[in-house]
Amino acid sequence: MLAGKRIVLGVTGGIAAYKAVEVSRRLVDAGAHVSPVMTAGAEHFIGRTTLSALASEPVQTSLWDEANPIPHTVLGQSADLIVVAPATARLLAAYAAGLSTDLLTNVLLATRAPVVVCPAMHTEMWEHPAVQANVATLRSRGVHIVEPEEGRLAGGDVGAGRLASPERIVAAIEAVLSTTRDLANVHVVVSAGGTREPIDAVRVIANRSSGKQGYAIAAEAAARGAKVTLVSTAELPVPAGVALRAVETAAQMQAALTELAPGADVIIMAAAVADFRPVAPAAGKIKKDQGVPQIVLEPTPDILAALGKAKLAGQVLVGFAAETSDLLANAESKLRRKHLDLIVANDVSAPGVGFQHDTNAVTLVQPGGVVHVVALADKRSIAKAVLDTVVQIRGASPTPNSKRSLTK
Ligand code: PMT
Repeated sequence: MLAGKRIVLGVTGGIAAYKAVEVSRRLVDAGAHVSPVMTAGAEHFIGRTTLSALASEPVQTSLWDEANPIPHTVLGQSADLIVVAPATARLLAAYAAGLSTDLLTNVLLATRAPVVVCPAMHTEMWEHPAVQANVATLRSRGVHIVEPEEGRLAGGDVGAGRLASPERIVAAIEAVLSTTRDLANVHVVVSAGGTREPIDAVRVIANRSSGKQGYAIAAEAAARGAKVTLVSTAELPVPAGVALRAVETAAQMQAALTELAPGADVIIMAAAVADFRPVAPAAGKIKKDQGVPQIVLEPTPDILAALGKAKLAGQVLVGFAAETSDLLANAESKLRRKHLDLIVANDVSAPGVGFQHDTNAVTLVQPGGVVHVVALADKRSIAKAVLDTVVQIRGASPTPNSKRSLTK
């Protein structure tokens, strides 16, 4: 697992810095190449010589090195993984804010490799709302946090905030490296946002979808090595490595997905597609002085049901179900009717769940009735759970993707 992996080990200024030496030794023993980076604070706690001796190369501390003029990009781009242990409150704040104040924060900004952060500090600091907000921000961006443990802290205090043990840190690194490329060479198509159906030249029928859940899935899939195409109505920043197909109406979303589906290994419909649209949208603006207009509606195409009918062997089709009652019964019915491999049911009437929130809570249902409940969490964590299940379904699929044929 770790053999040949290039790991940047960032060490910041906390009393637990001495444990970074043990983390480095374990990684090197397992065959990893460890490049240590220390902050100025860390140098108050451990000597460079100690860490250099137990890593794969000498410690680096500065951005300003004549022999190596751009150390941050070299380290950031070549890393398979970056781990920061211990991570102080200052490091969490700088990383969450995107500040590049020293070599380590520059490396963290100059990488697309997975990042594992292991905070350690006094209990009061760890529980401070500012620190917890920074941790939540980093988590929502896909940074893996190894939570501190309860135990004895510097000065004899006891409480939460002690750096996780070197065993736990190395296990977390192994877990991240084992899952992060599990979608390599897989084409994942994700839909996101709410469709807008024109009433006239200026008015639309819309819904409350922000696109956040779909974008979190796209970002997570790209981070796990997938080729990702996002078909979206939303105007959020496009995640790194994701191709965008901007659409507005259900008809445009269907056209894009119908075109992309034959080349897709996985299709995930997180979009909220309008169920009805005006039959005859007016070309200009309907004037108020003409009285209240009668708007005749017609059903939109059910995009997911059509994709289900045309599903290719080996292709994994995932739908969402936004419900306000009878969550499981409604989701199971959609799963069957639309020929899905997985449905992600969310009770959008529950606090913090579904439309517009940064969080969601879902129940994953497969045709065999397998149910996995994910409690309220940020949308990136929901995305992880959905993609973990997709990877399991693909692993269990008897038909190789390269030999697809029409099943229906
Ligand atoms: O975008 P956010 O603000 O982050 O909110 C996330 C979300 C609440 C939009 C998301 O979690 C979600 O539930 N998306 C599906 C919303 C929805 O339209 O659910 P539904 O139960 O009405 O539809 C079932 C499935 O059929 C969905 O996958 C939907 O994309 C699809 N569908 C629905 C109607 C239609 N005409 N065509 C479709 O393909």
